[in-house]
Amino acid sequence: MGEVFRRFWLPAVLSSEIRQNEGPPRRLRILGEDLIAFRDTSGKPCIIGAYCPHKLAPLFFGRNEDHGIRCAYHGWKFGADGTCVDIPNLPENFNVEGLKKRAKIAGYPAREAGGVVWVYMGPQNTMPELPGLEWLQAPDSHVHVGRWLQRSNWVQGMEGEIDSSHISWLHRDFVPFRGNAPVAPTAPLAQGLVDGAPLMKLQETDYGFVYGARRKTDTGNFYWRVTQWMMPMFSMIPNDRFPRTGRAWVPIDDTHTSVFTYGYMVGDGFTQGQIEYLNEGHGFPPPLRPTVYRLPDGYNIDTYQSVAVKENDYQIDRLMQKTVNFSGIHAITDQDRALQENMPSYGSHNVGEIVDRKRELLVPSDLPVITARRMLLKMARDMANGIEPALPQSPDLYAVRSTAAVTREGDFGAFLNAHRDDLRAPSSAP
Ligand code: FES
Ligand SMILES: [Fe+2]
Repeated sequence: MGEVFRRFWLPAVLSSEIRQNEGPPRRLRILGEDLIAFRDTSGKPCIIGAYCPHKLAPLFFGRNEDHGIRCAYHGWKFGADGTCVDIPNLPENFNVEGLKKRAKIAGYPAREAGGVVWVYMGPQNTMPELPGLEWLQAPDSHVHVGRWLQRSNWVQGMEGEIDSSHISWLHRDFVPFRGNAPVAPTAPLAQGLVDGAPLMKLQETDYGFVYGARRKTDTGNFYWRVTQWMMPMFSMIPNDRFPRTGRAWVPIDDTHTSVFTYGYMVGDGFTQGQIEYLNEGHGFPPPLRPTVYRLPDGYNIDTYQSVAVKENDYQIDRLMQKTVNFSGIHAITDQDRALQENMPSYGSHNVGEIVDRKRELLVPSDLPVITARRMLLKMARDMANGIEPALPQSPDLYAVRSTAAVTREGDFGAFLNAHRDDLRAPSSAP
């Protein structure tokens, strides 16, 4: 699966994390590979290997100077593409150029769009354009992004995005809404909380699938929530009023995930009230703090963690659970993480790391999860057999939207036809 991910552009770091030219690097691990991200002298985002090839010193401690990073140990210097550009501790008659060639480290193409620095870690000859996600077209004033650490396998978390049935339970509020009014759930969303047994309908597409969760309303209509899932790990969730939102689940390794969230506005930008609501952290992202997180093998990554973590039981408040919301946990994503980071794992893995799926009892509402697993496994098996995924080469396929509506229409195919325009974004690759 890692090789499949290396055919796609992946969110690596928020633009705001490396705001400053020649500023401090950020330590990342993506797909099990240790990297640093920094902005060079010209403002270009750079993502290169984390270690100097001389004596393997971490370049995080190096000096970001004059279009590259100079290792703090003996001064070797590396440019944006990982090329070694200076080796100052050699005798005069030494073959410097030959050594520089051998001293090349990883340096991956990096691009900036939608408030995020993206990285491509695959072969040059298969490098695609950035995906045509509408979010990447929006101006900065219309985009709100964040990221945080989830301590589980990426699939475990991503599956919550395509599991509409759980919002009626895990994310149920007993009071009409919390937080600032501008984004209070509208009447249709409130309807979603009533029927906890939605009918799931799904249509596979060239990019993944679109699925509809159909709930009965008390007026005899149907409330449809139509979610997009774009391989390998992008979601777009319907939100009746604002903002258009979804997540990208980027594997740090098999048992840790960097979760990127995005919200964007079409038309007018965010209002102050909306920004304040987002910053209250009810939804995405949750209240976060910058963290240096030590992975189990001792490598430190620079990331963000929710204030609600495993160690404090996600700040569950049992009184709140009786009176305010179903979970007793403050933020939506903390509610999800509390469950996903504490599922029993298979084999010798620790609790929460990689769930033991043989023990699951799946039901019809798990159709999107089952379908996603099947499609991902096919892509991974194809890759192992030398069949390259076609999807990354068609970035326009990502120009989709999600939608939600109350309608008399009960047939999913007819609903999709009637809402065809709502489900396409008028964008192409940036
Ligand atoms: S270890 Fe980096 S220059 Fe020596
Ligand atoms: Fe959820």
